[in-house]
Amino acid sequence: MASSSKEKVVLAYSGGLDTSVMVKWLQVEKGLDVVAICCNVGQESQDLGWVKQKALDMGAVAAESVDMRSEYADQILTKAIAANGLYEGTYPLLSALSRPMISAYMVEAAHHHGAAYIAHGCTGKGNDQVRFETSIHAIDPTLRVIAPVRDWDLLTREQEMDWAAAHDVPVPTTADKPYSIDDNLFGRAIECGVLEDAWSEPPADIWTMTTDPEDAPDAPCEVTLGFERGTPVSLDGTEMPLLDLIIELNGIAGANAFGRIDMIEDRVIGIKSRECYECPASLALIGAHQALESMCLDHDTLHYKSGIDQRWANLVYDGLWFSPLKNALDSFIANTQRFVTGEVRAKFYKGTFTVTGRRSDYSLYSRELATYGHGDLFDRSSSKGWITLHSLPSQTWSLSQGPSYVQSMSAHEVRQFETGEAEQGTPATSAASA
Ligand code: ARG
Repeated sequence: MASSSKEKVVLAYSGGLDTSVMVKWLQVEKGLDVVAICCNVGQESQDLGWVKQKALDMGAVAAESVDMRSEYADQILTKAIAANGLYEGTYPLLSALSRPMISAYMVEAAHHHGAAYIAHGCTGKGNDQVRFETSIHAIDPTLRVIAPVRDWDLLTREQEMDWAAAHDVPVPTTADKPYSIDDNLFGRAIECGVLEDAWSEPPADIWTMTTDPEDAPDAPCEVTLGFERGTPVSLDGTEMPLLDLIIELNGIAGANAFGRIDMIEDRVIGIKSRECYECPASLALIGAHQALESMCLDHDTLHYKSGIDQRWANLVYDGLWFSPLKNALDSFIANTQRFVTGEVRAKFYKGTFTVTGRRSDYSLYSRELATYGHGDLFDRSSSKGWITLHSLPSQTWSLSQGPSYVQSMSAHEVRQFETGEAEQGTPATSAASA
């Protein structure tokens, strides 16, 4: 290859229309040499060899397709599972989790190829632009980012297609896909098109990883998931790398219609959007992990961690994977996972996932203490004294200030109460009706 005096840009390349147009556009309009990089994080339909060749055919000076699936599973998804990572209690963060790792690779590639720029194909309305740029700048603040699609947001799809045709960019001959899709090992995100009407039911054709519950098998399917220090390590007793476990579990859970999500989500940039996801393995693994934590973590840690988990999910959603707070929370979470080792048994059935058993050598659940039957070791007499002390502050308050429900009444209600104007009934009922 002849060496060129042009500056280089490393492009996060998916092979789709937008980033294909970008391969050409960065050369023609920006005068840059393009290095196209396609990261395999477990996308459903991707012939990466073909994608790489396509970039070279359009004049990229170099192209790479990188299989990042094991790294994604072992370095990123293990942390997400340990953190029970669910944004707004629902979305297992699949796009938010892949972007930091892809960004880190882009930075590495920029250094390797001597590029001053990194380009991505995100729009100006979504979260992914935030995640790419925040991650890139957290690793190397000197790199400059180009986001052509954000600048083209004013272009119509037709104008983009015209530009592509005029510059020999192969455009799909099939009708434009009506949805915006992002997918990886942890699930699949589907947006746009008819889904933008928040009242319309998601059409059947958006789902590809999950069977419709109405078509799912009539018999339940049981699985046993083994965990070691908070990381899934086995499926039905067979130990396997997390990557293989997730692929297999996506198949089992998806066939049983488990993992569909339809939600209104709060984007980083302040817009609410209607999002559909299918997350068969991720939701099952997080559900099983939570079940094991409830057995292996002490009461205080379990409760405190749920707040940490939520903060972790918000940071990751907001593109702050490479931030000091996120790192610190990872350390906290890792510390809590030392004894989250054991097995969870569960059933998939027509779109549901139900934990039916859990066991651990580190279980804090003691049948002898919990039982109402034979072999009870719990000393009931100790409850009496404990309740006296537990209720002491409430008693003291009540003796000094009066019963605390009075303080929960509004000023107006208190006046009514004091002047006897309150309606018939006890103060408790009038306070409760406030
Ligand atoms: N709303 C999700 C998120 O921000 C999914 C984004 C998916 N991206 C896409 N290009 N469809 O994490």
